[in-house]
Amino acid sequence: MPKHIIIDTDPGIDDSLALLLAAASPEIVLDGVIAVHGNVSTEQTTKNALSVLELAGLSQVPVFKGCDLPLVKESLLSPETHGNQGLGYAQLPESATQPQLKHGSDFLIEQIMSHPGEITLVAIGPLTNVALAIRKEPKIVQNVKEVFIMGGAIQHPGNTTALAEYNTFVDPHAAHIVFHSGMPMILTPLDVTYQCIFTKDDLNRLLKINSPITKFIADSTRFYMEFHDEYQSIDGCVINDPMTLALTFMPEICDYQDLVVDVDISTGVGLGNTFGDFYNYEKKPKNMKVAMGVRPRMFMELFLERMEKLAQKNRDIPKTTVLS
Ligand code: BDR
Ligand code: CA
Repeated sequence: MPKHIIIDTDPGIDDSLALLLAAASPEIVLDGVIAVHGNVSTEQTTKNALSVLELAGLSQVPVFKGCDLPLVKESLLSPETHGNQGLGYAQLPESATQPQLKHGSDFLIEQIMSHPGEITLVAIGPLTNVALAIRKEPKIVQNVKEVFIMGGAIQHPGNTTALAEYNTFVDPHAAHIVFHSGMPMILTPLDVTYQCIFTKDDLNRLLKINSPITKFIADSTRFYMEFHDEYQSIDGCVINDPMTLALTFMPEICDYQDLVVDVDISTGVGLGNTFGDFYNYEKKPKNMKVAMGVRPRMFMELFLERMEKLAQKNRDIPKTTVLS
């Protein structure tokens, strides 16, 4: 039975790759996409989600706009990482489909409460919408099947401050609400995503297929690779978000540890820092499973094969001359 999935996202280059992976994965049914502020404004993440879904052949999937701002802090966009429009050098046509009128957090509540124990939530942006939904309807905590979260850096340096990962830094208060909610959570932190680099060789393999899908991947990741090179001296780019989605149907990509994980919401240099209580000093019950080990090639092969399949389905047909 395929898993019913809702993706909460801020596309974003790697978010877009996660949407493409969803389109290419028969193990899941995508019930809806909720846009959140983050890499670009919510206005733009909503547009990007619609355009990428259309590119992927998923324009029937409803898209909902979520929160424009973090719960407490000011917003922090990331044009240096994802470009001013969020998709690097890629330019997609505006989708013919409009976002739904309902707020994303209300859609999430409605879906979880009307399908108890069936909805898997994949949150790959700041956790604002999810925290708001918990505050509006706390019963979703017992009724969601599981929540996969891309966020945090447990024993790894931050990618936004020395200590904090982007999604938890942008809305640490939302992350705090979600982490302490009691939802069944699986965290994919930078500890594992930074071991999976999408390289130029990987891209060249995909570019053997001439398709709008491979063109999009090339144009978006070229920008992302330039960012990784300039800011982190990484040759290639880290595709955090599709890896998080992949764990919903191929958990064996990672090894997990049950941990007490918290996020710093004090106002010092550690704001947004996520930390695990490895020696159980606090004597608190573990609140999540954390991916701490990874088989990078297993994920990368899965990703590349799925992108190849999707691209094959959407090949550019060479123009033929019609003889009369
Ligand atoms: C996370 O931050 C964003 O820039 C990416 O889309 C990903 O979700 C990685 O820290
Ligand atoms: Ca993201």
